[in-house]
Amino acid sequence: MKIDDVKNVCVVGAGNMGHQIALQCALSGFKTISTDVVPAVLEKAQKFVDNYLPGRVQKGKMTEEEASAVRSRISFTTDLSDAAKDADVVIEAVLERIDLKRKIFADLDKIAPEGAILATNSSFIVSSRIADATRRPDRVCNLHFFNPALVMKLVEVVQGPHVSDETAKCMMDFCLKIDKIPVHVKKKLTTSFSTAFSVPVTRRLSGCSKWAWPHTKTSTRHVFTAPAIRWDPSACWISPVSIWPMISA
Ligand SMILES: NC(=O)c1ccc[n+]([C@@H]2O[C@H](COP(=O)([O-])OP(=O)(O)OC[C@H]3O[C@@H](n4cnc5c(N)ncnc54)[C@H](O)[C@@H]3O)[C@@H](O)[C@H]2O)c1
Repeated sequence: MKIDDVKNVCVVGAGNMGHQIALQCALSGFKTISTDVVPAVLEKAQKFVDNYLPGRVQKGKMTEEEASAVRSRISFTTDLSDAAKDADVVIEAVLERIDLKRKIFADLDKIAPEGAILATNSSFIVSSRIADATRRPDRVCNLHFFNPALVMKLVEVVQGPHVSDETAKCMMDFCLKIDKIPVHVKKKLTTSFSTAFSVPVTRRLSGCSKWAWPHTKTSTRHVFTAPAIRWDPSACWISPVSIWPMISA
């Protein structure tokens, strides 16, 4: 898959991360379908979009025409088959459970077009633990956004050994198209780079031996500010939960 071939995006899971990732994709010109198994979550996501766009118009950030074009590009459904059948890129953002993610990827493998890239937004589950649930491991990777996804610029593209260069390149280009700053993480990590980085004392950090990112001051600043935001006191409750999977295995 090349970036010019990417027209349709499916985001699975419309919770904290998923609804904002979906909106970011629609804002950037992609036809986007947001899907979740819980109708109330999808209703909330839809309400968010319906409040967000007029808010941007009021603030002079976009015209009414632009807002209505964005709105026409995003839709919501509880039906995974409908959501993924024409997708060129699928971004999974469901609960952080390996069994659930493997099941969803196995289903997506059957539903999504053969060439589609299946990405997971997981912070702790590397795609090598999911890729073998599909027949397309070279097109299964981590695409790790930060919270809130509409605001945070940094996105990690994690290229494990099973991921093709073409997939990694397409995901890097995709991030640029959705107005994000991608970091290309080339080695298999037990967690995302920034998550590992934000936890200085961890045995697993030694597995994080090789990475690459665009050598610009801006991207480097975003690598450092993303973990910094995690350290904000208001987000402190996340820390013990975040650390546990890394120190416990
Ligand atoms: N919250 C964060 O700060 C953050 C940051 C970066 C990455 N992540 C990752 O993003 C992913 C989602 O996190 P979140 O905070 O948005 O979780 P969340 O609990 O807010 O949302 C998860 C959603 O997945 C839905 N879901 C469950 N099973 C599903 C299925 N079979 N099909 C479709 N949807 C299903 C749930 O209904 C829920 O709405 C996790 O893998 C997490 O590691 C989270």
